Amino acid sequence: MTSILVMNGPNLNLLGTRQPDIYGTTTLAMIEEACHSHGAKLGLAVTCLQSNHEGALIDAIHGARGEQDGIVLNAGAYTHTSIALRDAIASVELPLVEVHLSNIHAREPFRQVSHIAPVALGQICGFGAQGYVLALHALHAHLRDDT
Ligand code: DQA
Repeated sequence: MTSILVMNGPNLNLLGTRQPDIYGTTTLAMIEEACHSHGAKLGLAVTCLQSNHEGALIDAIHGARGEQDGIVLNAGAYTHTSIALRDAIASVELPLVEVHLSNIHAREPFRQVSHIAPVALGQICGFGAQGYVLALHALHAHLRDDT
């Protein structure tokens, strides 16, 4: 069975109550449940993980090598700052879809820069919680066409 790791970075544990005008009212638990159920429909075994710590996210990316077939990542603010996260993604050579709830390209200039995008398969942003499910579909299609 194809295995996908869905990763969320800093402050995304607060979804539901965090700036709902920007990020919506869907909680992280609801997003993870949607990933499990939609993933199951696509034949994907989904594992979810959230951390507020850069090193923990890097360790999880390293750990995914040989264990997972792909990664969905919302790195939160680390998207705009972390070369280390980018290097970890490049190192494990797993297909990764970058997700953001908000349209980062329509926001402050510092959010319009992603260090993840150059090492990602692609980026989905601006579709709220639905972006995670769209990312699972994208990875599913990519992995199916690969085999
Ligand atoms: C975010 C966008 C980032 O700029 C921000 O730091 C986040 C959430 C999003 O999902 O829209 O934490 O990744």
